[in-house]
Amino acid sequence: MTKRLFIKTYGCQMNVYDSARMADVLAPLGYAPGDDAEGADLVILNTCHIREKASEKVYSELGRLRLMKQERPGTLIAVAGCTAQAEGAEILRRMPFVDVVVGPQAYHRLPELVARASRAGGAALDTEFPVDTKFDHLPETATPPGPAAFLTIQEGCDKFCTFCVVPYTRGAEFSRPVAEVLREAERLVAGGARELTLLGQNVNAYHGRDADGRELGLGGLVRRLARIPALGRLRYTTSHPRDVDDALIAAHGEEPKLMPYLHLPVQSGSDRILEAMNRGHDAAHFLRIVERLRQARPDLALSSDFIVGFPGESDADFAATMDLVREVGFAGAFSFKYSARPGTPAALLERQVPEAVKDARLQDLQSLLRAQTEAFNRSVLGRVVPVLVEKPGRHPGQVVGRSPWLQAVHVEAPRAAIGATIDVRLVRLGPNSIAGEVASAAGAAA
Ligand code: 5AD
Ligand code: SF4
Repeated sequence: MTKRLFIKTYGCQMNVYDSARMADVLAPLGYAPGDDAEGADLVILNTCHIREKASEKVYSELGRLRLMKQERPGTLIAVAGCTAQAEGAEILRRMPFVDVVVGPQAYHRLPELVARASRAGGAALDTEFPVDTKFDHLPETATPPGPAAFLTIQEGCDKFCTFCVVPYTRGAEFSRPVAEVLREAERLVAGGARELTLLGQNVNAYHGRDADGRELGLGGLVRRLARIPALGRLRYTTSHPRDVDDALIAAHGEEPKLMPYLHLPVQSGSDRILEAMNRGHDAAHFLRIVERLRQARPDLALSSDFIVGFPGESDADFAATMDLVREVGFAGAFSFKYSARPGTPAALLERQVPEAVKDARLQDLQSLLRAQTEAFNRSVLGRVVPVLVEKPGRHPGQVVGRSPWLQAVHVEAPRAAIGATIDVRLVRLGPNSIAGEVASAAGAAA
């Protein structure tokens, strides 16, 4: 009998990938994913712990699910992901109606946990970091990928930035073997994917051995993957400035399938703050990498992450961040107020920055970044660029895809164009996307 599954995903793309894999693991048990919690037999919240706000969302969603469960007591509620890892016991104490708590490295055991919870009526918790990885146990993906698919190649982090929970929630740095990555990539492409985004918390720390025993970094892996004929585009995220090596820079210059858009978080432009964050590089190092990447690939656009109000951040430190932003010129960015996370070293630092100061700095930074994004988007207007069409648009007759720089582009074209790369003239900026016109129906390769 088919049972209904609803997975709500918070946080990063890694969680999006994990949610799809959870559905794969549960498919043999008869669970079919739907898009509503109402009436579901199993609801999974795949949670994020990166900032306090992200974690709070989970508790308020659980409050809603409690009411739903009162009406349908048979519904199973599972909490997965990074908040589950960090606060599993606390979740069960505060929310005793939760049936399953499972961490990001243990979700291949969901069938067993779900069975245990429904049998015993008590909660099942698994937040271990098993010795053998979940990837050894996950079934082949059951759902066909869209034209643009995610592929996790690396997980966890050993860098221990002082603000960050990831080393604790995702565990130690780990790379999947080259052969396994190639196999999954080929399967995704055979299933219709034309673009792959390689995922990792620290994706350019990737290292693995190929069939000949040669050590490959991310640059080498990108070149291998680029040999898959029907694969048109490659991206990767999220990377660390310390792990941008010569081979990766060369791949940006020489591998046309590697798209000219790179998310490279810098967090701050102040050397003092970068040091206190334990980032392992200074502002000059970041600028030098940007320069070398742009030399290799002149049309490369950059995005980044920023934190304002890290403990001890002075006006001068913040000014250094603004200077760095002005110097680089970003095509996109995410910026956040520092959020003290329990268990991280920075949470214990004195000189926490007052909320009002964080607010003011965030506003300044975001208005600068918004202006830069708009300037970048404006700079591509009038050009004809390859767009990989991903899905139907909001209006009939319209489809939506991505430019090489990850801009959403909508265009009048038949649905049959989904999965094809078409040449589009970019004509107008919308609030969240660019309007384009088909310039040639013949699919370009890139
Ligand atoms: N507070 C605010 N932002 C954070 N990030 C990570 N940890 C924190 C924190 N404690 C941001 C960083 C990271 C992005 C994913 O989230 O900018 O790159
Ligand atoms: Fe959130 Fe980080 Fe976990 Fe992703 S890895 S879900 S961003 S805490």
